[in-house]
Amino acid sequence: MAQFRRPDIKVFVDGADFETIRTGLSLPVTQGFTTNPSLVSQAGVADYTSYAKEVLALVPQLPVSFEVFSDTPQGMEREAHIIHAWGNNVYVKVPVITPAGESMGPLIRKLSAQGIALNVTCVFTVEQAQIVADALDPATPALVSVFAGRIADVGVDPVPIVEACRDIFKGHPRAELLWASTREVYNIWQAEQAGCRVITAPLSMVKKYNAIVKTGGKDLTELSRDGVQAFMNDIAQAGVKFGA
Ligand code: G3P
Repeated sequence: MAQFRRPDIKVFVDGADFETIRTGLSLPVTQGFTTNPSLVSQAGVADYTSYAKEVLALVPQLPVSFEVFSDTPQGMEREAHIIHAWGNNVYVKVPVITPAGESMGPLIRKLSAQGIALNVTCVFTVEQAQIVADALDPATPALVSVFAGRIADVGVDPVPIVEACRDIFKGHPRAELLWASTREVYNIWQAEQAGCRVITAPLSMVKKYNAIVKTGGKDLTELSRDGVQAFMNDIAQAGVKFGA
């Protein structure tokens, strides 16, 4: 018997190149997109504004997050206003701190009070989440991206951190907790259970999730048999002999 239960969580595609965005759009489970400066540079983007306009022509309705590039609060503020003007479905991604460690709480407060929908990114700690919750205007939509995968990458369980963030944002109905830096498909279920309303995942994982939703999941015994069969097929195809 398949053990699938569809989680109650929005799934965004994390990626910047047009092929990823087009394919993401073709998947019924996709409900939004996120990008970041690393993904934008990997996509070979030269002109951020023209690139964003092209993305938004493809994705005029679903939420799309574009991040600021600057490493200073002044630069981030200037870029945030430019990005905000790109479209009604745009979330401006602002890091929770600068690379030098300066809190972006004051800038988040200012931009959110101006009605700018933010995606506060690179949140790794409960203390940072508290600063964000204190700064966000309750009337303005926001996403709060906890980098669960990068937390797990250093041997720390992200689930209790995400759960503590969920409690912090209880009084913020317009702020949606987002599980970012997804490492495996099962993170979608973990994110939902921990209280996230959104998860962003690479296209490869969204494709797998879409297939699970479409087929209703896989029976684990069937998977076991498939696995054993694949081992047999591979060895037979390669012609490996036991030898003497
Ligand atoms: O886009 C933000 C976040 O999802 C990045 O993920 O895989 O670079 O840790 P990753």
